[in-house]
Amino acid sequence: MNNAAFLEPSSMTAFFAALSRRAFLSMSLRATAGGLLASILAPIREAFAGSNTAPRYFRRIVTRDNRASAMIEWQTDTALSEPRFFWREAEGKAEKTADVDVKYFALDGRSVFVYRATLSGLRPGKQIECRVEAAERNAGSFSFRTDDGGAVQALIFPDSQCENNYDTWARVSGEASARCPDAALWVNMGDLVDNGASFYHWDGWQSATDAALGGRAFAPVPGNHECYSEDWKLCRPDAFLSLFATPDNGSTKYQRYYYSFDYGPVHFSVVNTQKEELDALAPGLFAEQAAWLARDLKATKSQWRVALLHRDLIDYDQKPITRDPFVETLVPILEQNGVDAVLTAHAHAYRRRRLSAWKQAKSGVLYILTGNAGNCFYDVEKHEIDEIAFPDNFLNYLTMEADETKLTFRCFLPNGILKDFATLRKH
Ligand SMILES: [Fe+2]
Ligand SMILES: [Fe+2]
Repeated sequence: MNNAAFLEPSSMTAFFAALSRRAFLSMSLRATAGGLLASILAPIREAFAGSNTAPRYFRRIVTRDNRASAMIEWQTDTALSEPRFFWREAEGKAEKTADVDVKYFALDGRSVFVYRATLSGLRPGKQIECRVEAAERNAGSFSFRTDDGGAVQALIFPDSQCENNYDTWARVSGEASARCPDAALWVNMGDLVDNGASFYHWDGWQSATDAALGGRAFAPVPGNHECYSEDWKLCRPDAFLSLFATPDNGSTKYQRYYYSFDYGPVHFSVVNTQKEELDALAPGLFAEQAAWLARDLKATKSQWRVALLHRDLIDYDQKPITRDPFVETLVPILEQNGVDAVLTAHAHAYRRRRLSAWKQAKSGVLYILTGNAGNCFYDVEKHEIDEIAFPDNFLNYLTMEADETKLTFRCFLPNGILKDFATLRKH
């Protein structure tokens, strides 16, 4: 059997999605050598060799109020019969049930069933034990701790997209997770995967993330790579929207494109910065989001306001580099509505700035371009707004620690060496 025949079940488009965008563009310009084709197809063969029928990828997605509610998701390849969800506080309390919502999700020639249970009426700071039953079997268990509303530690990961496989992401996230067993929240800053329409990439990301994530609340930020089709054209981020039931944002047309949530003393606003990719595909999204962002920031009573944006202030793809035109429109909204810190990604490099209206300012908003947690490295120049600019080619993760008086971000190498930190204080 030749390699092309092996791809039949999922069509040749899966082959393109398994390439990086750069490799795809490069291949468009020259004939493909047989050896390159064989090496590219190896991971695809592995991904399509048999399907896993056991429930997997149990995870907890952030809700607006993580003290009182939780969203639990999991997946199977074949449908569970009459799945039932049970939960209880660990201290010998009676079990309660939650409704299970099931969605059939097809992508790239593969399909999965995505299950969701929404838990409400929880109490702050409680250990919650969950289990799933179905007609066929005891279908799995999961546990987590609700937000107690007090001091919190979070793990923050820059772009995790990987070419070929997700070993790099597994290493960075695994080491960070092991060093921070008490981190209650996990943030991915967008470009979770290299190709957002590829089952192969999502399965690689999910299997690498699964063990390290555990019962932490997960907040995914949408990135531009979630908006690429299998043949690297622009598309709506359907897989991202299907895989992560993020909190209701009040929109009638654009649920899950942007959202906000509270954890501990911090309010997080997750902004979709993919205007370049989605402006034509999602008409009205960005005007709607801008109005929402101002309202959302004004409404919060949390001690700290943190905005999570995939794209950075600077567009490093332009030569000479320039301000990102869409993020530039967000800066006044953020700065005039009391944001304390803005985290960005996309450039796969680490930068730290304190700015007010684009000028360095000691009491300005803290802007951190968060770095790289995958295996794609780019050349990124230093910019005049940067206070800290490291050489580009290192892997890293961040921690955020917040209480009522301090908000601290630390940048670590995967081996735990501290590279940088910044603290904001309030009385
Ligand atoms: Fe990106
Ligand atoms: Fe990226």
